Amino acid sequence: MASKKTSQGRIRLTQRPRRNRRTEALRALMRETVLQPGDFILPAFVMEGKNQRVPISSMKNQARLSIDLLLDLCKEASDLGISGINLYPVVPDAKKDKYAKESANPNGLLQDAISQIKAKVPGLAIFGDVAMDPYSTDGHDGLVMGDEIINDASLPILAEMSIAQAKAGVDFVAPSDMMDGRIGYIRKALDEAGYEHVGILSYAAKYASVFYGPFREALDSAPRSGDKKTYQMDPANKREAIREALLDIQEGADMVMVKPAGAYLDVISTIRSKVTVPVAAFQVSGEYAMIHAAAEKGWIDAARAMTESLTSIKRAGADVILTYFALEMARALK
Ligand code: PBG
Repeated sequence: MASKKTSQGRIRLTQRPRRNRRTEALRALMRETVLQPGDFILPAFVMEGKNQRVPISSMKNQARLSIDLLLDLCKEASDLGISGINLYPVVPDAKKDKYAKESANPNGLLQDAISQIKAKVPGLAIFGDVAMDPYSTDGHDGLVMGDEIINDASLPILAEMSIAQAKAGVDFVAPSDMMDGRIGYIRKALDEAGYEHVGILSYAAKYASVFYGPFREALDSAPRSGDKKTYQMDPANKREAIREALLDIQEGADMVMVKPAGAYLDVISTIRSKVTVPVAAFQVSGEYAMIHAAAEKGWIDAARAMTESLTSIKRAGADVILTYFALEMARALK
Protein backbone atom coordinates (compact mmCIF):
# COMPACT_ATOMS: atom_id res chain seq x y z
CA MET A 1 0.00 0.00 0.00
CA ALA A 2 1.38 3.42 -1.04
CA SER A 3 -0.30 5.36 1.75
CA LYS A 4 1.12 5.47 5.23
CA LYS A 5 -0.77 4.62 8.42
CA THR A 6 -1.02 7.40 11.02
CA SER A 7 -1.02 6.81 14.72
CA GLN A 8 -4.85 7.03 14.78
CA GLY A 9 -5.08 4.20 12.32
CA ARG A 10 -5.73 6.60 9.45
CA ILE A 11 -4.12 6.24 6.11
CA ARG A 12 -3.28 9.04 3.68
CA LEU A 13 -5.44 8.97 0.58
CA THR A 14 -5.35 11.69 -2.11
CA GLN A 15 -8.67 10.60 -3.52
CA ARG A 16 -11.56 10.26 -1.07
CA PRO A 17 -14.80 10.20 -3.08
CA ARG A 18 -16.77 10.21 0.19
CA ARG A 19 -15.79 13.90 0.72
CA ASN A 20 -18.35 14.75 -1.99
CA ARG A 21 -21.08 12.88 -0.15
CA ARG A 22 -20.48 14.19 3.37
CA THR A 23 -23.51 16.52 3.76
CA GLU A 24 -26.86 16.95 2.05
CA ALA A 25 -25.75 20.33 0.66
CA LEU A 26 -22.64 18.76 -0.88
CA ARG A 27 -24.67 15.86 -2.25
CA ALA A 28 -27.06 18.35 -3.86
CA LEU A 29 -24.13 20.08 -5.55
CA MET A 30 -22.69 16.82 -6.85
CA ARG A 31 -26.03 15.46 -8.13
CA GLU A 32 -25.84 14.55 -11.82
CA THR A 33 -29.49 13.79 -12.48
CA VAL A 34 -32.38 15.93 -11.29
CA LEU A 35 -36.03 15.14 -11.94
CA GLN A 36 -38.49 17.91 -12.78
CA PRO A 37 -42.29 17.76 -13.08
CA GLY A 38 -41.85 18.90 -16.69
CA ASP A 39 -40.11 15.60 -17.51
CA PHE A 40 -43.33 13.65 -17.12
CA ILE A 41 -46.27 12.54 -19.19
CA LEU A 42 -49.11 10.92 -17.25
CA PRO A 43 -50.77 7.91 -18.90
CA ALA A 44 -54.53 7.93 -18.22
CA PHE A 45 -57.56 5.80 -18.99
CA VAL A 46 -60.77 7.45 -20.15
CA MET A 47 -64.18 5.79 -19.99
CA GLU A 48 -67.71 6.69 -21.03
CA GLY A 49 -70.27 8.27 -18.73
CA LYS A 50 -70.38 11.03 -16.16
CA ASN A 51 -68.85 11.12 -12.72
CA GLN A 52 -67.39 7.65 -13.26
CA ARG A 53 -64.29 6.52 -11.42
CA VAL A 54 -63.54 2.81 -11.66
CA PRO A 55 -60.33 1.86 -9.80
CA ILE A 56 -57.85 -0.50 -11.44
CA SER A 57 -57.29 -3.15 -8.81
CA SER A 58 -53.70 -3.93 -9.81
CA MET A 59 -52.67 -0.27 -9.98
CA LYS A 60 -52.95 1.62 -6.72
CA ASN A 61 -54.39 5.16 -7.06
CA GLN A 62 -55.10 4.63 -10.77
CA ALA A 63 -58.59 4.53 -12.21
CA ARG A 64 -60.57 4.68 -15.39
CA LEU A 65 -62.22 8.11 -15.43
CA SER A 66 -65.10 9.64 -17.32
CA ILE A 67 -64.19 12.83 -19.15
CA ASP A 68 -65.55 15.21 -16.48
CA LEU A 69 -63.29 13.65 -13.83
CA LEU A 70 -60.40 13.32 -16.27
CA LEU A 71 -60.57 17.09 -16.74
CA ASP A 72 -60.00 17.58 -13.01
CA LEU A 73 -57.02 15.24 -13.17
CA CYS A 74 -55.61 17.15 -16.15
CA LYS A 75 -56.02 20.44 -14.32
CA GLU A 76 -54.20 19.03 -11.32
CA ALA A 77 -51.41 17.61 -13.48
CA SER A 78 -50.98 20.90 -15.30
CA ASP A 79 -50.94 22.88 -12.03
CA LEU A 80 -48.18 20.57 -10.78
CA GLY A 81 -46.09 21.37 -13.86
CA ILE A 82 -46.52 18.03 -15.60
CA SER A 83 -46.03 18.46 -19.35
CA GLY A 84 -48.47 16.05 -20.88
CA ILE A 85 -51.12 13.40 -20.69
CA ASN A 86 -51.19 10.21 -22.75
CA LEU A 87 -54.71 8.90 -23.27
CA TYR A 88 -56.09 5.38 -23.62
CA PRO A 89 -59.80 4.72 -24.15
CA VAL A 90 -61.83 2.04 -22.38
CA VAL A 91 -64.12 0.91 -25.17
CA PRO A 92 -67.31 -1.00 -24.32
CA ASP A 93 -67.52 -4.43 -25.96
CA ALA A 94 -70.54 -3.34 -28.03
CA LYS A 95 -68.31 -0.81 -29.80
CA LYS A 96 -65.48 -3.20 -30.57
CA ASP A 97 -65.15 -4.91 -33.93
CA LYS A 98 -62.56 -6.59 -36.11
CA TYR A 99 -61.60 -3.36 -37.87
CA ALA A 100 -61.51 -1.08 -34.80
CA LYS A 101 -63.96 1.21 -36.65
CA GLU A 102 -64.85 3.11 -33.52
CA SER A 103 -61.30 4.48 -33.42
CA ALA A 104 -62.02 6.80 -36.35
CA ASN A 105 -65.36 8.07 -35.01
CA PRO A 106 -65.05 11.87 -34.92
CA ASN A 107 -67.33 11.87 -31.86
CA GLY A 108 -65.69 8.85 -30.25
CA LEU A 109 -64.66 8.80 -26.60
CA LEU A 110 -60.97 9.52 -27.10
CA GLN A 111 -61.64 12.33 -29.58
CA ASP A 112 -64.17 13.85 -27.19
CA ALA A 113 -61.66 13.68 -24.34
CA ILE A 114 -58.96 15.30 -26.48
CA SER A 115 -61.12 18.25 -27.53
CA GLN A 116 -62.43 18.89 -24.02
CA ILE A 117 -58.96 18.78 -22.46
CA LYS A 118 -57.63 21.07 -25.18
CA ALA A 119 -60.42 23.56 -24.43
CA LYS A 120 -60.25 23.41 -20.63
CA VAL A 121 -56.56 22.72 -19.91
CA PRO A 122 -54.75 24.24 -22.87
CA GLY A 123 -51.35 24.17 -21.14
CA LEU A 124 -51.16 20.39 -21.12
CA ALA A 125 -49.70 18.58 -24.14
CA ILE A 126 -52.04 15.80 -25.27
CA PHE A 127 -50.70 12.50 -26.58
CA GLY A 128 -53.16 10.06 -28.14
CA ASP A 129 -52.48 6.35 -28.23
CA VAL A 130 -52.68 4.89 -31.72
CA ALA A 131 -53.19 1.12 -31.88
CA MET A 132 -56.15 -1.11 -32.60
CA ASP A 133 -56.22 -3.17 -29.39
CA PRO A 134 -58.60 -1.09 -27.24
CA TYR A 135 -61.13 -1.08 -30.10
CA SER A 136 -60.57 -4.54 -31.52
CA THR A 137 -62.54 -7.69 -30.74
CA ASP A 138 -59.25 -9.54 -31.37
CA GLY A 139 -57.34 -7.49 -28.80
CA HIS A 140 -54.37 -7.10 -31.11
CA ASP A 141 -52.66 -3.86 -32.13
CA GLY A 142 -53.08 -4.63 -35.85
CA LEU A 143 -55.66 -6.34 -38.02
CA VAL A 144 -56.05 -10.08 -37.46
CA MET A 145 -56.72 -12.44 -40.37
CA GLY A 146 -56.71 -16.10 -39.48
CA ASP A 147 -53.86 -16.35 -37.01
CA GLU A 148 -51.82 -13.58 -38.56
CA ILE A 149 -51.50 -9.91 -37.66
CA ILE A 150 -51.63 -8.26 -41.07
CA ASN A 151 -49.17 -5.41 -41.41
CA ASP A 152 -50.04 -3.33 -44.44
CA ALA A 153 -53.82 -3.52 -44.11
CA SER A 154 -53.45 -2.18 -40.54
CA LEU A 155 -51.79 1.03 -41.70
CA PRO A 156 -54.85 2.82 -43.17
CA ILE A 157 -56.76 2.04 -39.96
CA LEU A 158 -53.96 3.53 -37.83
CA ALA A 159 -53.81 6.54 -40.16
CA GLU A 160 -57.57 7.16 -39.90
CA MET A 161 -57.31 6.88 -36.13
CA SER A 162 -54.47 9.44 -36.15
CA ILE A 163 -56.44 11.88 -38.32
CA ALA A 164 -59.50 11.60 -36.06
CA GLN A 165 -57.31 12.48 -33.05
CA ALA A 166 -55.63 15.30 -34.98
CA LYS A 167 -59.02 16.76 -35.85
CA ALA A 168 -59.95 16.68 -32.18
CA GLY A 169 -56.83 18.68 -31.35
CA VAL A 170 -54.23 16.17 -30.21
CA ASP A 171 -50.68 17.55 -30.00
CA PHE A 172 -48.92 14.25 -30.69
CA VAL A 173 -50.14 10.89 -31.84
CA ALA A 174 -48.33 8.01 -30.18
CA PRO A 175 -48.44 4.84 -32.29
CA SER A 176 -47.88 1.90 -29.96
CA ASP A 177 -48.70 -0.84 -32.47
CA MET A 178 -45.23 -1.77 -33.83
CA MET A 179 -46.45 -2.35 -37.41
CA ASP A 180 -43.73 -1.79 -40.02
CA GLY A 181 -43.90 1.47 -41.95
CA ARG A 182 -46.62 3.02 -39.83
CA ILE A 183 -44.71 6.16 -38.95
CA GLY A 184 -44.16 7.10 -42.60
CA TYR A 185 -47.73 6.16 -43.46
CA ILE A 186 -49.23 8.18 -40.61
CA ARG A 187 -46.92 11.16 -41.28
CA LYS A 188 -48.05 11.30 -44.90
CA ALA A 189 -51.72 10.92 -43.98
CA LEU A 190 -51.52 13.69 -41.35
CA ASP A 191 -49.71 16.02 -43.76
CA GLU A 192 -52.21 15.41 -46.56
CA ALA A 193 -55.07 16.12 -44.19
CA GLY A 194 -53.49 19.43 -43.16
CA TYR A 195 -52.10 18.33 -39.78
CA GLU A 196 -48.40 18.85 -40.42
CA HIS A 197 -48.15 20.48 -36.96
CA VAL A 198 -49.22 17.28 -35.17
CA GLY A 199 -46.19 15.35 -33.92
CA ILE A 200 -45.47 11.64 -33.75
CA LEU A 201 -44.11 9.96 -30.64
CA SER A 202 -43.14 6.55 -31.91
CA TYR A 203 -43.11 3.56 -29.62
CA ALA A 204 -39.99 2.55 -31.55
CA ALA A 205 -38.59 -0.13 -29.27
CA LYS A 206 -41.60 -1.71 -27.68
CA TYR A 207 -40.84 -5.11 -26.25
CA ALA A 208 -43.15 -8.13 -25.96
CA SER A 209 -43.12 -7.71 -22.20
CA VAL A 210 -44.78 -9.38 -19.26
CA PHE A 211 -44.91 -5.99 -17.55
CA TYR A 212 -48.03 -4.85 -19.47
CA GLY A 213 -50.35 -7.15 -17.51
CA PRO A 214 -52.13 -4.57 -15.32
CA PHE A 215 -52.68 -2.29 -18.34
CA ARG A 216 -54.49 -5.02 -20.24
CA GLU A 217 -56.71 -5.55 -17.22
CA ALA A 218 -57.46 -1.80 -17.13
CA LEU A 219 -58.59 -1.73 -20.75
CA ASP A 220 -59.83 -5.30 -20.95
CA SER A 221 -57.63 -5.43 -24.07
CA ALA A 222 -55.66 -8.66 -23.75
CA PRO A 223 -55.23 -10.52 -27.06
CA ARG A 224 -58.07 -12.99 -27.51
CA SER A 225 -55.65 -15.48 -28.97
CA GLY A 226 -51.91 -15.76 -29.36
CA ASP A 227 -49.41 -13.19 -28.14
CA LYS A 228 -47.78 -10.05 -29.54
CA LYS A 229 -44.38 -11.54 -30.36
CA THR A 230 -44.66 -11.17 -34.15
CA TYR A 231 -44.77 -7.40 -33.82
CA GLN A 232 -43.41 -6.43 -30.39
CA MET A 233 -39.69 -6.95 -29.87
CA ASP A 234 -37.81 -9.83 -28.31
CA PRO A 235 -36.52 -8.71 -24.86
CA ALA A 236 -33.18 -10.26 -25.79
CA ASN A 237 -32.47 -7.71 -28.54
CA LYS A 238 -30.78 -4.33 -28.50
CA ARG A 239 -29.33 -3.86 -32.00
CA GLU A 240 -32.84 -4.36 -33.32
CA ALA A 241 -34.04 -1.52 -31.10
CA ILE A 242 -31.53 0.82 -32.72
CA ARG A 243 -32.71 -0.31 -36.15
CA GLU A 244 -36.34 0.35 -35.21
CA ALA A 245 -35.55 3.80 -33.81
CA LEU A 246 -33.48 4.88 -36.81
CA LEU A 247 -36.17 3.66 -39.22
CA ASP A 248 -38.92 5.52 -37.37
CA ILE A 249 -36.86 8.71 -37.41
CA GLN A 250 -36.26 8.32 -41.16
CA GLU A 251 -40.00 7.93 -41.57
CA GLY A 252 -40.67 11.14 -39.66
CA ALA A 253 -40.91 10.38 -35.93
CA ASP A 254 -40.39 13.48 -33.78
CA MET A 255 -39.57 11.50 -30.66
CA VAL A 256 -38.82 7.81 -30.10
CA MET A 257 -39.73 5.71 -27.10
CA VAL A 258 -38.35 2.68 -25.31
CA LYS A 259 -40.86 0.56 -23.42
CA PRO A 260 -40.83 -0.80 -20.73
CA ALA A 261 -38.20 1.36 -19.02
CA GLY A 262 -36.75 -0.20 -15.87
CA ALA A 263 -35.62 -3.50 -17.37
CA TYR A 264 -34.39 -1.76 -20.55
CA LEU A 265 -32.10 0.99 -19.22
CA ASP A 266 -29.29 -0.18 -21.49
CA VAL A 267 -31.58 0.22 -24.50
CA ILE A 268 -32.54 3.75 -23.43
CA SER A 269 -28.88 4.62 -22.99
CA THR A 270 -27.80 3.20 -26.33
CA ILE A 271 -30.63 4.82 -28.27
CA ARG A 272 -29.91 8.15 -26.57
CA SER A 273 -26.37 7.96 -27.91
CA LYS A 274 -27.46 7.06 -31.45
CA VAL A 275 -30.24 9.52 -32.25
CA THR A 276 -30.70 13.29 -32.11
CA VAL A 277 -34.46 13.42 -31.49
CA PRO A 278 -35.76 13.38 -27.90
CA VAL A 279 -35.97 9.92 -26.34
CA ALA A 280 -38.92 8.92 -24.18
CA ALA A 281 -39.20 5.94 -21.85
CA PHE A 282 -42.39 4.36 -20.51
CA GLN A 283 -42.40 3.06 -16.95
CA VAL A 284 -45.25 0.67 -17.60
CA SER A 285 -48.14 -0.65 -15.54
CA GLY A 286 -46.29 -3.73 -14.24
CA GLU A 287 -43.32 -1.68 -13.07
CA TYR A 288 -45.70 0.58 -11.18
CA ALA A 289 -47.69 -2.33 -9.76
CA MET A 290 -44.57 -4.14 -8.53
CA ILE A 291 -43.41 -1.16 -6.51
CA HIS A 292 -46.79 -0.78 -4.83
CA ALA A 293 -47.18 -4.50 -4.26
CA ALA A 294 -43.84 -4.74 -2.47
CA ALA A 295 -44.63 -1.60 -0.49
CA GLU A 296 -47.98 -3.02 0.61
CA LYS A 297 -46.13 -6.03 1.97
CA GLY A 298 -43.94 -3.62 3.91
CA TRP A 299 -40.87 -4.75 2.00
CA ILE A 300 -39.88 -1.47 0.36
CA ASP A 301 -40.73 2.19 0.72
CA ALA A 302 -42.95 3.16 -2.23
CA ALA A 303 -42.01 6.84 -2.34
CA ARG A 304 -38.29 6.13 -2.37
CA ALA A 305 -38.67 3.33 -4.91
CA MET A 306 -40.60 5.76 -7.12
CA THR A 307 -37.87 8.38 -6.94
CA GLU A 308 -35.04 5.90 -7.42
CA SER A 309 -36.67 4.16 -10.38
CA LEU A 310 -37.51 7.44 -12.15
CA THR A 311 -34.07 8.90 -11.46
CA SER A 312 -32.50 5.79 -12.97
CA ILE A 313 -34.64 6.09 -16.09
CA LYS A 314 -33.58 9.71 -16.53
CA ARG A 315 -29.93 8.92 -15.74
CA ALA A 316 -30.00 6.24 -18.45
CA GLY A 317 -30.83 8.97 -20.95
CA ALA A 318 -34.59 9.45 -21.14
CA ASP A 319 -35.54 13.05 -21.93
CA VAL A 320 -39.22 12.38 -21.31
CA ILE A 321 -40.78 9.81 -18.98
CA LEU A 322 -44.26 8.33 -19.18
CA THR A 323 -45.16 7.16 -15.70
CA TYR A 324 -48.23 6.49 -13.58
CA PHE A 325 -46.25 8.12 -10.75
CA ALA A 326 -46.26 11.50 -12.55
CA LEU A 327 -48.57 13.27 -10.09
CA GLU A 328 -47.07 11.76 -6.99
CA MET A 329 -43.52 12.45 -8.14
CA ALA A 330 -44.38 16.02 -9.11
CA ARG A 331 -45.93 16.56 -5.67
CA ALA A 332 -42.84 15.14 -4.02
CA LEU A 333 -40.66 17.55 -6.00
CA LYS A 334 -42.63 20.61 -4.84
C1 PBG B 1 -51.10 -1.52 -26.59
C2 PBG B 1 -50.42 -0.89 -25.42
C3 PBG B 1 -49.97 -1.57 -24.31
C4 PBG B 1 -49.43 -0.62 -23.44
C5 PBG B 1 -49.54 0.62 -24.06
N1 PBG B 1 -50.15 0.43 -25.30
C6 PBG B 1 -50.09 -3.00 -23.94
C7 PBG B 1 -49.73 -4.00 -24.94
O1 PBG B 1 -48.93 -3.78 -25.85
O2 PBG B 1 -50.29 -5.09 -24.83
C8 PBG B 1 -48.86 -0.93 -22.12
C9 PBG B 1 -48.78 0.19 -21.13
C10 PBG B 1 -48.57 -0.25 -19.73
O3 PBG B 1 -48.42 -1.44 -19.43
O4 PBG B 1 -48.56 0.64 -18.87
N2 PBG B 1 -51.19 -0.77 -27.73
